[in-house]
Amino acid sequence: MFWMSLIPAFHALAAVLWVGGIFLVFMVLRPSAAATLEPAHRITLLREVFSRFFRWVWLFIAVILVTGYSEIWMLGSMAKAPPYIHLMQAVGLFMILAFAWLYFMPYKLLCKAADAGNTELAARIINNNMKPVIATNLVLGICEVIIGVAGRYWSLV
Ligand code: HEM
Repeated sequence: MFWMSLIPAFHALAAVLWVGGIFLVFMVLRPSAAATLEPAHRITLLREVFSRFFRWVWLFIAVILVTGYSEIWMLGSMAKAPPYIHLMQAVGLFMILAFAWLYFMPYKLLCKAADAGNTELAARIINNNMKPVIATNLVLGICEVIIGVAGRYWSLV
């Protein structure tokens, strides 16, 4: 039983670290860098932050998927799962696809632009292509944490 309790614990941990990480980068680090650093240094910093954080995000996603579907298995099956779990799955899978797109499309372009020393293009990629996806995943991630923690009480309301 103790080992089973680790499944929701790791699911929640990976979720909180993913969403908390996005919050820090988007709401704190990005405006701080914009207020204090020249564009070229800002791009270097953000690229470094993305490169380190995104590697962690892949790990968080793997943990969320394995533990999320293990929790469904603990509930019996997807058919027996209440609606809020279906919502969590749908929103979660959308977030994962959005992150995969962010990683393989604009982030890779950002790396190329930064390597070529094209600060203007790199800044445009961050503002026009990466920022909206990161903001969307921040909002959806916060919703997921609320669904995960509060959803079990909704059928009682
Ligand atoms: C993508 C597939 C996902 C599946 C299949 C899934 C499945 C589940 C299940 C079955 C529960 C247990 C709910 C209960 O017992 O009442 C749960 C809880 C939770 N989920 Fe997810 N989830 C997924 C994605 C996510 C994502 C992306 C986040 C946030 C970034 C998240 C955050 C949480 C939280 C905070 C809880 C409450 C703690 C816990 O029971 O672990 N989940 N999830």
